[in-house]
Amino acid sequence: MKVFIDSGDIAEIREAQSMGVIDGVTTNPSLLAKGGRPTKQVIAEICEVVDGPVSAEVVAVERDAILREGRELAKIHRNVVVKVPLIDEGLKAVRIFAAEGIKTNVTLCFSAAQALLAAKAGATYISPFVGRVDDAAGDGMELVLQIVTIYRNYGFPTQVLTASVRHPVHFVQAALAGSHAATLPFKVIKQLTRHPLTDVGLAQFLADAKKIPEMAPRTP
Ligand code: E4P
Repeated sequence: MKVFIDSGDIAEIREAQSMGVIDGVTTNPSLLAKGGRPTKQVIAEICEVVDGPVSAEVVAVERDAILREGRELAKIHRNVVVKVPLIDEGLKAVRIFAAEGIKTNVTLCFSAAQALLAAKAGATYISPFVGRVDDAAGDGMELVLQIVTIYRNYGFPTQVLTASVRHPVHFVQAALAGSHAATLPFKVIKQLTRHPLTDVGLAQFLADAKKIPEMAPRTP
C-alpha cells in the first residue's frame, strides 16, 4: 500500500520524507489555510520535497471554473494531482481532465455509489473519508472494503486512497482491505513506528551494551 502524508506543512513533510516511507502528499484548503501561504507556492515546494503524486484541491464548484483552476494547478509540476469534490459539476470536470491526461483525486467521498460514479468519470484516485464516516456513527472501513470490491469486480483502474485516517488501526485496516494508498496525518505516521516493547527492548540492549568491556588498545 502506498503511504501519503496528509499535510500542508513543509517541515513535517520533510521530516516524514526523510524516514523513507512517503510515496505522495495530499493537501486540502483547511490544511493549507493553517500555514497562511499562497497555495501554488506551497504546492511547488512540496513537489520539490516529495517525488510522487501531490494532490492540490480546487475551490471552484462549477465545471468550467473547476477546469480553469485545475489546469492552473496542474501546470505547477508534473506530479500535481487535481483534487476535485464529489459533486455533479466535479464529475463533469473529472471526465474532461481525464481526456486531457490530467490526474484527479475525487475527494469528500462518503458512499460506494459515489465512488462507482467517480470511477466511471475517469478519476485517478477516490478518497473515502473513513474518520468522518466513523464520526457520523458509520463504518468508514466498511466503505473502503465496498469500494475496493466494486472496483475489482469491474476492473476500474481508479485507485482507492483511504483518507481522513485518524489512528494506526485505520492504517492497518486499509491495507487489509486492499486500499491502494492511505493518506496519513504526520501525527499518525509518528504513532506507527512506536511500540512500548520496542522502547523496553532498546533500553535493555543499551544498558547491557555498557557492560561489554572495551577492547584493549593494540600494541605494535
Ligand atoms: C484527504 O485528502 C483529506 O485531506 C483528509 O484526509 C481529511 O481528513 P480529516 O477528516 O481529518 O480532515
